[in-house]
Amino acid sequence: MTKQLNEEIQHEVDKRRTFAIISHPDAGKTTLTEKLLLFGGAIREAGSVKARKASKHATSDWMEIEKQRGISVTSSVMQFDYNGHRVNILDTPGHQDFSEDTYRTLTAADSAVMLIDVAKGVEAQTIKLFQVCRRRGIPIFTFINKLDREGQSPFDLMEELERVLGIRSVPMNWPIGMGRELCGVYDRMKNQVELFQGNDHSTIEVRKVGDFRDPVIREMAGDYLADQLEQDLELLDVAGDPFDFEKVRAGELTPVFFGSAVNNFGVQTFLENFLQLAPKPASRNSTSGPVEPTNEKFSGYVFKIQANMNPAHRDRIAFLRIVSGRFERGMSVKHVRMGKDIKLAQPQQFLAQDRDIVEAAYPGDIIGLFDPGIFRIGDSLAMSKDLEFDELPTFSPEIFAKVSIKNALKKKQYEKGLDQLTEEGTIQVFTTAGGFEDTILGVVGQLQFEVFEYRMKGEYGVDVILQRMTFQFARWIVDDNIDPSKYRINSTLVKDKKGNYVALFENEYAMRTAMDKNPTSKFLETAP
Ligand code: G4P
Repeated sequence: MTKQLNEEIQHEVDKRRTFAIISHPDAGKTTLTEKLLLFGGAIREAGSVKARKASKHATSDWMEIEKQRGISVTSSVMQFDYNGHRVNILDTPGHQDFSEDTYRTLTAADSAVMLIDVAKGVEAQTIKLFQVCRRRGIPIFTFINKLDREGQSPFDLMEELERVLGIRSVPMNWPIGMGRELCGVYDRMKNQVELFQGNDHSTIEVRKVGDFRDPVIREMAGDYLADQLEQDLELLDVAGDPFDFEKVRAGELTPVFFGSAVNNFGVQTFLENFLQLAPKPASRNSTSGPVEPTNEKFSGYVFKIQANMNPAHRDRIAFLRIVSGRFERGMSVKHVRMGKDIKLAQPQQFLAQDRDIVEAAYPGDIIGLFDPGIFRIGDSLAMSKDLEFDELPTFSPEIFAKVSIKNALKKKQYEKGLDQLTEEGTIQVFTTAGGFEDTILGVVGQLQFEVFEYRMKGEYGVDVILQRMTFQFARWIVDDNIDPSKYRINSTLVKDKKGNYVALFENEYAMRTAMDKNPTSKFLETAP
């Protein structure tokens, strides 16, 4: 290994930032992504990403459902350069249709940006995605959006972050006014005021000030807002958490930025601060211990596979997160699970709209590999035959439906399809554990039911009937002496494919009651 290549990899790793934006639908993720891409010059016009989101005829024909519904079903990746950094944004579907894919995509991120609507605060989908990031211990940065509208007070929002998500926060800037009165933000780190101006809201004036008591602020914002800013910041200085880089890096403290994505308020300073504070690509654990990104031997793992729903084009794309070394087009690597050498001939990298053939890529980058059916989620590719990355996490199903067949004559195909599709891992199948056997499917996102229905018809020629059930939680019961009679009230006991007992609950209260009643049992979120 030459010193030159080593230095090249180090340099490329240092400048990379790979992150995901997590939010609830409508918080403004598409808008923020678009502004970030504009700063990076990756797109020229506002509206490009939005147009893609709304387009009923996306150029990609990978996924028929994606086309039909005009949404990006599976997460993709956007890359741009800014101030010497190479930025990879992993897109997580913000739609209600998110799935295990969304969660898994977070394993490929080294940090997350949590986007919150100032009026709505912390919402359901944000909580779920936050918890996955939390478990990984990655740094989480918060952008509170839509400051041009009336919303909750910044203090209330900070309190909500702590109460609902259990994370302390440190405001990096502070709004001067809000809604119609919003005139700017005060940057607590740089001691400067960012003024939002102009009818089209596009002019932003940045003024250096001594501190938040500087008379310049009073001149600009008027007595009322200046008084309020002083009061707020005095309180923050006394009662708030100080900025602590180590805690931020450990995911224990979230830096908070206030702004308005659609008006471009606070977006650029957010981006600049974020790039300074966010970590470069991190190591990943494997059977050979942690693999450092600067390790010159190429390695990576597949975290997502995007299937083409069109039976005429069965091609799939496997998304690979590069963990170490340098990727070169056409290189040969070991497909560790299969114990085979494969050539990575047609890799693709993803920009806002187009897929480009990539010649070289580095740790932190995501590349799309053409998949003729040889990849599975979690597969490792490496230069050595025995390097396998840790298994990707699995997630507990949250939505359930009873499945049955419309035409009983198709029973054989139905069973085959059910068996094969649930084998892929994103749909769990359960059977009721008493007399008459019902088949119940459990998934993380509603979309998976639609995909199931679609594929059962397309690939197996079977029409299925799905009836939504009211369960919300599944817990695998580990107990040598399980007593099924104790699960009759408030829950339903079923068995998974392997015969493990699983209790399904309609609400958290029911689940807690069952836990109290069965103190010797373990309740696991996923199969043991
Ligand atoms: P999402 O991807 O998180 O689902 O959100 P998206 O960016 O599509 O934004 C949702 C709505 O919120 C959009 O309005 C968008 O314009 C608006 N929005 C985003 N950022 C801000 C902001 O800073 N302030 C205000 N007031 N609104 C914001 P829409 O009516 O659904 O679409 P459009 O017709 O305005 O494009």
